[in-house]
Amino acid sequence: MQNNHQAFVIGDPVSHSLSPKLHQFWLKKYNISGSYKAVNISANELPSFFQKLQTGEFIGGNVTIPHKENIFSLCDEISQEVKEIGAINTLVLKDNKVFGANSDWIGFLENLDREALNWDKNAEQKHAIILGAGGASRAIIYALMRRKFSHIHILNRTKDRAISLSKQMKLVSYEEVKIRAHSLDEFNNLAPKADLVVNTSSIGMNDTKFENLALDNLPKSAIINDIVYTPLNTPLLIDAKNIRLKTVDGLGMLLFQAAFGFEKWFGVKPEIDNDLRNHLLSALGEKPC
Ligand code: ATR
Repeated sequence: MQNNHQAFVIGDPVSHSLSPKLHQFWLKKYNISGSYKAVNISANELPSFFQKLQTGEFIGGNVTIPHKENIFSLCDEISQEVKEIGAINTLVLKDNKVFGANSDWIGFLENLDREALNWDKNAEQKHAIILGAGGASRAIIYALMRRKFSHIHILNRTKDRAISLSKQMKLVSYEEVKIRAHSLDEFNNLAPKADLVVNTSSIGMNDTKFENLALDNLPKSAIINDIVYTPLNTPLLIDAKNIRLKTVDGLGMLLFQAAFGFEKWFGVKPEIDNDLRNHLLSALGEKPC
């Protein structure tokens, strides 16, 4: 077990990040005398921060907006997944080298594996609808490709962005997976064949909601996953629950992606349980589960 090690989340801004609360909960629970803190780092400050990292001031940490894409050249090594997803969210120091990894896709998969049993059974015959074509969607599309979903439909307000993302993701070598780009208003036509709907866009935050999504057109067995967790019960999840569809909220993905980094830095695979969820729900001002 690693003690007295310091880990971080860097971003700009970063003060909103829930990651310190989450990692500090685990540090305390496992009696590890390390630390995890949020550090506001601008793009200009990244090279000097990396020097500190390489000289051992930190054991590693997380990376959030706007640095997930612009730290590639600063890392000494990057994982194959990072190359395919095009974003880094976890840094690990090994032998004075900074290793860039991505755990968002793992967090997404482990959360669904826990919350929606058999969600990927016969994946090679399943269709997924991904709402949004921004940074967050890439790791999720990658994850569904790894599980060999038959069809992945990317729906975005700006269709050109969906087209460009679908082209990039097609370069990742899972030829059997079909990726298609659409505008949001094609949801209602695609819904009858969809097994899984994932909102990766920022809709749901700040009192925004999708207009005109005919959730009724989905099969009764469809699963709706929102990665937004502020609020935890997004309008999309509320609408889906109202017609008795299976829903999965966004907090779990955050917890599972974090567990990957914690284990790398501190040598303990942390448990994801209701105590942790409730701790974070109270930090978010949400009711315990
Ligand atoms: P992130 O890295 O968090 O994914 P992003 O790259 O800014 O952030 O992407 C935000 C996503 O939310 C995009 O898919 C965006 O759609 P556009 O590409 O058309 O901008 C989507 N989004 C944000 N606000 C939206 C709104 N009011 N209506 C529809 N889509 C919206």
